[in-house]
Amino acid sequence: MRKILVTSALPYANGSIHLGHLVEYIQTDIWVRFQKMQGHTVHYVCADDTHGTPIMLRAQKEGITPEALIDAVHKEHSADFKEFLVEFDNYYSTNAPENKELSQTIYKKLKANGKIATKTIEQFYDPVKNMFLPDRFIKGECPKCHAKDQYGDNCEVCGATYNPTELINAYSAVSGAAPIRKETEHYFFKLSECEDFLKTWTRSGTLQGEAANKMGEWFENGLNDWDISRDAPYFGFEIPDAPGKYFYVWLDAPIGYMASFKRLVEDTNRKVDAGELPESRRMSFDEYWKQDSTTELYHFIGKDILYFHALFWPATLEYSGYRKPTQIFAHGFLTVNGEKMSKSRGTFITARSYLDHIKNPEYLRYYYAAKLNSTMEDIDLNLEDFVARVNSDLVGKYINIASRTAGFISKYFDGKILDTDLNRINETAKATMVTLGSIEEIAEYYEARDYGRALREIMRVTDYVNEYVNEMAPWVLAKDSNQHQIGSKLHAVCSDALKAFRVLTIYLTPVLPEVSQKVAVLFCEPRNYLWNDLQFAPEKISAYNHLITRIDPKAIEAMTEANKENLAPTPAVIKTASPAAAPVLAASDAAEGSYISIDDFTKVDLRIAKIVNAEHVEGAEKLLKLTLDIGDATTRQVFAGIKSAYDPETLKGRLTVMVANLAPRKMKFGMSEGMVLAASDDNGGPFILSPDVGAQLGMRVK
Ligand code: 2FM
Ligand code: ZN
Repeated sequence: MRKILVTSALPYANGSIHLGHLVEYIQTDIWVRFQKMQGHTVHYVCADDTHGTPIMLRAQKEGITPEALIDAVHKEHSADFKEFLVEFDNYYSTNAPENKELSQTIYKKLKANGKIATKTIEQFYDPVKNMFLPDRFIKGECPKCHAKDQYGDNCEVCGATYNPTELINAYSAVSGAAPIRKETEHYFFKLSECEDFLKTWTRSGTLQGEAANKMGEWFENGLNDWDISRDAPYFGFEIPDAPGKYFYVWLDAPIGYMASFKRLVEDTNRKVDAGELPESRRMSFDEYWKQDSTTELYHFIGKDILYFHALFWPATLEYSGYRKPTQIFAHGFLTVNGEKMSKSRGTFITARSYLDHIKNPEYLRYYYAAKLNSTMEDIDLNLEDFVARVNSDLVGKYINIASRTAGFISKYFDGKILDTDLNRINETAKATMVTLGSIEEIAEYYEARDYGRALREIMRVTDYVNEYVNEMAPWVLAKDSNQHQIGSKLHAVCSDALKAFRVLTIYLTPVLPEVSQKVAVLFCEPRNYLWNDLQFAPEKISAYNHLITRIDPKAIEAMTEANKENLAPTPAVIKTASPAAAPVLAASDAAEGSYISIDDFTKVDLRIAKIVNAEHVEGAEKLLKLTLDIGDATTRQVFAGIKSAYDPETLKGRLTVMVANLAPRKMKFGMSEGMVLAASDDNGGPFILSPDVGAQLGMRVK
């Protein structure tokens, strides 16, 4: 019996689980269920990845503590996973005492082994928020294609990668201020000294072929020391003996695998001590994590985080005295209908939205399984194909076997299944024999994470069983009352088909655990099927109830419609009408519809402004050039996207509301020095705002 510890990557605690995430959790869960069915001891642990700047800022923006934010997200994630039948043995949080202790201990061991160095570096700093800025929180104009509002590390329009220093008119996505450069001391893990170890480790069968090749490229470029510290303010764990310095989230995140397991060990052993679990269930943390452990450790991850898991993580473990992973299993990304998930196409679908519309998680589990293999290739969720495959394979073929035969067994044979002699291949034991013939092949495919091949083989034998049922036509046999006797051909054929159906169900159990449980009840064996159950023949059935229904394609349409961002009905909102909008606090992962704090709001200087001039801009389709006066020494020029709604002549002399402290932005047609407020939605607009009688030019709006 093997002892196996399995993990999936820890999802960040600042966003919802979506269909892209689910590829990995479903992939891992299928493998874990398969291994548990073999009778191995398997522990599957995961946790929310809770630390870092984005989570800290999002909590601030919502006016809550980071702890309150991560608690709420933990509940949401746990419910999503449960409903998708992803069954962790423990789903924890990286913001936990076990993780703090392990992270600090590991750091101290790395330090004692001479693997920590300090270095003074220069970083971007937000002078308004008084904090260092990660690259993702610096935005500006792309140095290559000049697209506005691009992130500090790469351009989403032309795909260029660059340093934040190269951005034109860089601004902090947190406050809108221009970032300054500031020196700070950082702590580094000396990865450059781990090259020999890592070369040996990555070539020792721990990685898939493609991943090992990727490593080769990284080694060629040379390994840089890894910056593992961040300055306060930061939501995370403080570094021992380094006040104001925190572990970078990626240092304590994988240690979260250990922490989640540690907590599982403690909880389990407490139950053993209380007599709620047998002594045989007692667990040992060290057995799984000591340097020379004989247990197996597998990490399922996306290919984007290979660097962390195949370099930083084994090196961290090696130089702090722990075991290394047995293997890293990386998978590809999800595309939907052949393209990147997209909010405008309605294909950025959260786990919750899927459940609300499609309801049944096993459809998706089945479809993903049919598409998955052991490589890092991307997989595509084609929504039309999804409906077709689920309806034709799962319902039309697999379920069809039971729905065409179970009724006769109940009606004429009191639910009794005829005992056929499997050693004698006769006409009415064929279906069972054929399905059982694939046991080893299917097990090998599951073991190798080649679920697509496993399902193709399962469907091949399912087709065979269906042909057999067609050929034997029990519905024709049933017309003859002689066939209603125990032992008749009708009895034998339906028994054989149902036994084959039970075999197919056991094969499908890792993918369809809920259907499997219902089938076990049908065969009066109310338990979770094990692979070993393939050896036994069922004796009777209870009443047959529908196991799974077809997907209504309308539910798919409704789901994509509901997720189309620009089509979703929105109330009229006040928007800034300047295309040069520098979003205040618009970090990439800022939650839509979430709150901003009063502090953030009061940073925006809204003033009553007079439109002293308005004119068309040559070559601009949507813009008018406005000259605004707020009663100070100068007028301001603002380009506003309101041309479709206004004749510039009618605007001259009007009062409106403007954002007066927006950093000036260089646009194609000149500088834009603010924004005017305007309302619009799908029904019309933009309509610029006017103050009530009495409001004077220059007054502050609060
Ligand atoms: O990329 C991510 O979503 C990370 N939160 C994964 C962390 S996995 C592990 F190392 F903690
Ligand atoms: Zn660009």
